[in-house]
Amino acid sequence: MINPDRQSHWNNLYATKPLDAVSWYQLKPEKSLELIQRFMPAEKNPSVIDVGGGASTLVDHLRAAGYESLSVLDISEEALTKTRTRLGPISEHIKWIVADVTNTELPDNAYDLWHDRAVFHFLVDPEEQNRYVHQLTRSLKPGGILVISTFAPDGPEKCSGLTVSRHDCVDLRRILGQQFDLLLSAREIHQTPFQTVQAFCYCVFRKC
Ligand SMILES: C[S@@+](CC[C@H](N)C(=O)[O-])C[C@H]1O[C@@H](n2cnc3c(N)ncnc32)[C@H](O)[C@@H]1O
Repeated sequence: MINPDRQSHWNNLYATKPLDAVSWYQLKPEKSLELIQRFMPAEKNPSVIDVGGGASTLVDHLRAAGYESLSVLDISEEALTKTRTRLGPISEHIKWIVADVTNTELPDNAYDLWHDRAVFHFLVDPEEQNRYVHQLTRSLKPGGILVISTFAPDGPEKCSGLTVSRHDCVDLRRILGQQFDLLLSAREIHQTPFQTVQAFCYCVFRKC
């Protein structure tokens, strides 16, 4: 089930703002691409899901880099429609899922790689964070890779008018639990389209 208030917040945002006028906009998501290609190369033919992918161009770049099994999940149908329209006929080869990641039924052991940029940090309630981890743990294959980025402890306290939870890799590791081994952590200073900066924490984990 989708929380209607949460969904309409994001649908309204995507309906009223140009894609390059949101703080998280990236022309090319370089860091995510680098980490995905390093830990789960296209040659392995992995099944990849971008959780809360919104209107990100990550899926365009992954497809162009040879990734063939791609899914994009987002609570906002409006965002996914914009992404599908941008991709044109290529979009038919991608699985689109309109859902709240904390409250949906993803298939078990389905994905080799789970990517999340700037989605987990909207979950401020520990109960919701646990539901996210449950979902992730169920649907990522054993040995699967998690590439996750959230606002760092010195990042913004709010995004899109919503309060966020900020994390470092130690904190994310604690929340994810013992089933996940930390492989890498990195920091990125994101330049917003408004000439401001935001500190992000990027982590790569492997599910045991
Ligand atoms: C800050 S944007 C980041 C979008 C994209 N990952 C990127 O880096 O450009 C957060 C995205 O998460 C989606 N979202 C927020 N809460 C969600 C939830 N509970 N389940 C699924 N998607 C969610 C929003 O619709 C939005 O597209």
